[in-house]
Amino acid sequence: MLHFNPVEYNNWLIRLDIIDSTNNYAMQLLQDGMAQSGTVVSAKFQSAGKGQRGKLWRSSPGQNVAMSLILADMQHMDMFRLAFLVPVSVRQVLQSFMPECQVLIKWPNDIYVNDRKICGILIENVFRGSSLRSAVIGIGINVNQSDFGLPDKVPTSLLLETGRAHVPEDIIAAVRAAVLKELDRSSGSLQQEYNRFLWKRDTGVRLGMATSGELLQGTVQEVNADFELVVRRDDGELCRFSFGSVQWL
Ligand code: BTN
Repeated sequence: MLHFNPVEYNNWLIRLDIIDSTNNYAMQLLQDGMAQSGTVVSAKFQSAGKGQRGKLWRSSPGQNVAMSLILADMQHMDMFRLAFLVPVSVRQVLQSFMPECQVLIKWPNDIYVNDRKICGILIENVFRGSSLRSAVIGIGINVNQSDFGLPDKVPTSLLLETGRAHVPEDIIAAVRAAVLKELDRSSGSLQQEYNRFLWKRDTGVRLGMATSGELLQGTVQEVNADFELVVRRDDGELCRFSFGSVQWL
């Protein structure tokens, strides 16, 4: 059964009915010095949910997870370790809620089931000098939505994949616990797990260069320690792509 009510769920969760973006709300808390590490902001509905590359993140009211986890005053974190850590943790959680499915990570940080997107992640980093100090980790998970009203690139949800409804708050709690648990894990070990579940690994793909629009065909090798996608082009050349420089076609 779904249970949404306006009361506090517990002492680490700020649950809102409606907000423009939980990431914006969480970032404001962080900037005002009002945020404790581990605080989560969630909302039943976001009027201007933020996606990757300036896109809007749309989600039906009350059916899904829209959460932002605040990590404040981190001491030994770097951007790449966090970039591996978050999808690895979220993938583990979704896998545990849907053991019958294969849950994979699509570089850079989408979660896919049966070649369809079930979760998107938007990490907003705060640096002091060159050190990563804090971050707002925005996570949108399709939980109980079954109709996305989209003609192509149709997303999926836990309900569609498992045939069961799930309680969004249970998933929020599990995601928070998984991210906090993995905070001390080494980059190497996180990178290994990320690559173990990398979508399209060892598979032929077509990519489009973001700036030139040029097309490339090749086979996905791995994501390297600098969080670059490594692809062997069909002519044999090994290419590395940084975040934002290519699009999946
Ligand atoms: C993407 O795949 O484009 C990333 C989507 C991230 C969406 C989540 S929902 C909760 C949090 N608040 C936002 O405004 N965006 C993230």
